Amino acid sequence: MIIKDSRIIKLTDEFKEFALSCQRLHPAYVRHISMKLAHTQRVCEELHGLALDLNFEPDVSLEPGGNDFFLAYISALFHDIGRFEQITRFGTFLDVVSADHAKLSIDTIKREGFIDFLPEMEVALILKIILFHNKPHLPGNLTRREFILAALLRDSDKLDIWQTVLNEENDDAFDAILDGGLQDTAEIPKKILEDIFHGRIAKLSDVTNKNGLRLLRCGWIFDTNFPATMKKIQNRGYITSTLDLLPDFDKKLELQHTLENYIEKKIMLVS
Ligand SMILES: [Fe+2]
Repeated sequence: MIIKDSRIIKLTDEFKEFALSCQRLHPAYVRHISMKLAHTQRVCEELHGLALDLNFEPDVSLEPGGNDFFLAYISALFHDIGRFEQITRFGTFLDVVSADHAKLSIDTIKREGFIDFLPEMEVALILKIILFHNKPHLPGNLTRREFILAALLRDSDKLDIWQTVLNEENDDAFDAILDGGLQDTAEIPKKILEDIFHGRIAKLSDVTNKNGLRLLRCGWIFDTNFPATMKKIQNRGYITSTLDLLPDFDKKLELQHTLENYIEKKIMLVS
């Protein structure tokens, strides 16, 4: 999938150059910054793939004369740029002990002037999409256009996080970066399990160990917006692979069926 839009190509180069300058200034965090750089590239690819599935690219727009694929793509490109300031200033990627990284991304975009050449309304839309990319829920008062663009970024971001955490499960150094060094104890946090059985997104504050985080990520399916995303989750086996990492416990099979049935139903709704 090749992007031909010259504005996207230019902004991607500027984003990469900014990441490199952060690495030059902060050699202790080269690996962390590379990790987020790679995540961003993959989120952009996921978004491009989803946009194609939704028949949304490159010229199909939700609004007459709109620019929506471009806006969605740029929001993906810059959604985590605040991670660079977060890691170099606070030494962590955990928002709870540092700062909301979506807000840091907005500060960085404004400070560096990356999208100052765009019309004010488009800048405001991109910043709004970025602000909501890491919140537990999207607010109910978004326009249809805002919702679809924000949902595209959230789904693309989650698709990559699922893949990344599964890839890095056995890498202790990366684990510490990703989850702040949670213990891999056998306990299954009851509150999170209960949330999933009720179709609710669990709270990060209820996560007490790695199993809690694994379960919380399984529950993200309740915050997945497009059937096309559901199909990718199913085809890539994210839920099964994540559950395989958990020890056996009462209701494990029931949990697997609950999650798989939910995915199946969401896919069936549109096919
Ligand atoms: Fe993020």
